Amino acid sequence: MKLSGNTIFITGGGSGIGRGLAEALHKLGNKVIISGRSKERLEDTIRANPGMAAVVLNIQDPASINAVAQQLIKQYPDLNVLFNNAGIYTPEDPSGLVDEDILVQTVTTNLLGPIRMTAALQGHLKSKEDAYIINTTSILGFVPVAQGAVYSATKAGLHSYTLTQRYMLKDTSVKVLEIAPPLVQTQMINYDPNAMPLAAFIEETMNVLGTDTDEVLVESAKMYRNNPGPNESVLVNHVNDMMSGQ
Ligand SMILES: NC(=O)c1ccc[n+]([C@@H]2O[C@H](COP(=O)([O-])OP(=O)(O)OC[C@H]3O[C@@H](n4cnc5c(N)ncnc54)[C@H](OP(=O)(O)O)[C@@H]3O)[C@@H](O)[C@H]2O)c1
Repeated sequence: MKLSGNTIFITGGGSGIGRGLAEALHKLGNKVIISGRSKERLEDTIRANPGMAAVVLNIQDPASINAVAQQLIKQYPDLNVLFNNAGIYTPEDPSGLVDEDILVQTVTTNLLGPIRMTAALQGHLKSKEDAYIINTTSILGFVPVAQGAVYSATKAGLHSYTLTQRYMLKDTSVKVLEIAPPLVQTQMINYDPNAMPLAAFIEETMNVLGTDTDEVLVESAKMYRNNPGPNESVLVNHVNDMMSGQ
């Protein structure tokens, strides 16, 4: 995609991957509007990046999504990029009782949230000459891990939705992109030292985002992306064995 001159709304832009990409895009001369539930995190981020803007959003709440979409269209009529990045991960156990709170919150945030946010802005985006919807999925959408069974399922679901959205919008001005990160050192995974450092992930991702690819993958994510197929359980089992210390 074109990496400058856009007006970009990014959910979950006050921390981690969202903040890293928001800052990189801000530096390249885009107007960036970040969002999330924590006002404090948003204010910290815009204070460190003069010119960046923020709006409080709870992506679990359809009323909040619609109110923010209306506000954005009014306040930033040039808005041409929706970046669905907000997400949550909570460990759980698919072999036991399903924790209703984790189930509902994870699905509502990671899958219903981006679908609803896109629906609220798609009419506006279609009116722009050059527009993008960018969905952040995960390699766990291709190689699910048992400790994040519901999380992995939401990311597989968002990948699937991205494909159909791309198909339906193929004759419009709206391009649909997917970023599928590997494990990245953010608060979401307690800054796991074995994960990819955030700065390296942002740098590599920005380089790929600047090409004309539909799927934005860093090198280390590619083997997971390439996994689905009749023998996908081989890698799925291997990764899950490793993670459970077998
Ligand atoms: N880190 C990884 O290893 C990894 C790997 C693959 C994919 N991802 C994906 O990358 C995206 C960013 O995650 P991250 O690693 O950067 O973690 P993060 O720092 O925890 O970022 C998640 C962001 O989502 C926002 N968010 C969560 N619930 C929300 C809600 N209900 N409404 C609005 N915003 C909400 C959070 O802000 P508030 O809490 O202030 O609302 C936060 O800024 C997520 O979609 C995640 O699934 C991460």
